[in-house]
Amino acid sequence: MSPTSRLPGFHKLSFSERVKVVKEFAGLSDEDVEILTKTGSLSIEIAERMIENVIGTLELPLGIATNFLINGKDYLIPMAIEEPSVVAAASNGARMCREGGGLHAMASEQLMIAQVQLTKVTNPYVAAYKILEKKEEIIDIANSVDPILVKLGGGIKDVEVKVIESPLGPMVITHLIVDVKDAMGANAVNTMAEKVAPYIEKWTGGKVYLRIVSNLADRRIVRVWTRVPKEAVGGKDVAEGIVYAWAFAAADPYRAATHNKGIMNGIIAVALATGQDTRALEAGAHAYAARRGRYEPLSRWELDENGDLIGYLEMPIAVGIVGGATRTNPIARVSLKILGVKTAKELAEVMGAVGLAQNLAALRALASEGIQRGHMKLHARQIAISVGAVGDEVDIVVNEMLKEGVIRYDKAKEILERIRGRRSK
Ligand code: MEV
Repeated sequence: MSPTSRLPGFHKLSFSERVKVVKEFAGLSDEDVEILTKTGSLSIEIAERMIENVIGTLELPLGIATNFLINGKDYLIPMAIEEPSVVAAASNGARMCREGGGLHAMASEQLMIAQVQLTKVTNPYVAAYKILEKKEEIIDIANSVDPILVKLGGGIKDVEVKVIESPLGPMVITHLIVDVKDAMGANAVNTMAEKVAPYIEKWTGGKVYLRIVSNLADRRIVRVWTRVPKEAVGGKDVAEGIVYAWAFAAADPYRAATHNKGIMNGIIAVALATGQDTRALEAGAHAYAARRGRYEPLSRWELDENGDLIGYLEMPIAVGIVGGATRTNPIARVSLKILGVKTAKELAEVMGAVGLAQNLAALRALASEGIQRGHMKLHARQIAISVGAVGDEVDIVVNEMLKEGVIRYDKAKEILERIRGRRSK
């Protein structure tokens, strides 16, 4: 009989008991268990305070992207990512931007939106009126749940109400617009929405179902621009190629998805390094990219009168430097220290700048030699290491594979054996 995944009380077991259950379920070896239970700076104790049913922690390489000059200030950018070439490309993109004076980034106020969904009202527009009429009261009720935020100058700033047509008829949606300051803010606004909801029911006689943050954080926008001299990207032809690459993305959602994926390579790597909610960032970015009813690129590239490149990026970036994993995950704390950002707004500006530099590096490679050359070198390196090459053997195996144009495990093994055979003679 196959083992069952119905495990009542699993969450109450100790860490080692849980690991034992999983070991038996999945037939893990002692070595597998050793891998699973070995931790780095994030201890099991901390991990268990972060999520449920912990059986280990997961590590990723943490790299530093260099060359970033943002709003006249130098930054070293911590990036956590599994994909080869991303950190190198970000550094490279930043170097090109630096030649034109760096990246200029400006984030809006840190406003998050919480939605309260009111249903089952016979006269939705009158219900909307009744809610709007109570705006000051809503503000007082919402602010009462977070006096610290209010003291810091944050709190609810506005209330908007709209009637939407849904497959189940009209609904009245209230937006609480909250300045969350240095927090990512989902928790703060969810609490406010839950507090306000019963009043909305009382005033309208309707039924509230959902009370939750919107990840389409379009009041928390970052704008970034940069000027890149054409010489920095390899000349007029490449600069034009980059503009053509952008135009392709602007005209075709299949390309826009990949274009934006390249931007998110940079943004999510910084998000992981600093303990952000990466899913919220992705959801916000892609919803914003589709805000005009068609999926579009988050950046644009054009030439100025001199033939130099002008890049522009605009997207929501909802991040925090207080609360959540930014504080509990020790690596996130150190990453924030490396960045030296003082506010969530500054972090958002840096992340937007990384996104645009990452995008530039990708488009430059795509518009010239293609991305496989750089990728292949790193890929070859990983393969060489995985077949056991050490010290100078790594470079020799990599160079041989690249020369022969065959980047495979069997080839790496064959070359390694050849080198070792030669050396043992
Ligand atoms: C690969 O991770 C990202 C790229 O595909 C982005 C792009 O095509 O613009 C290179």
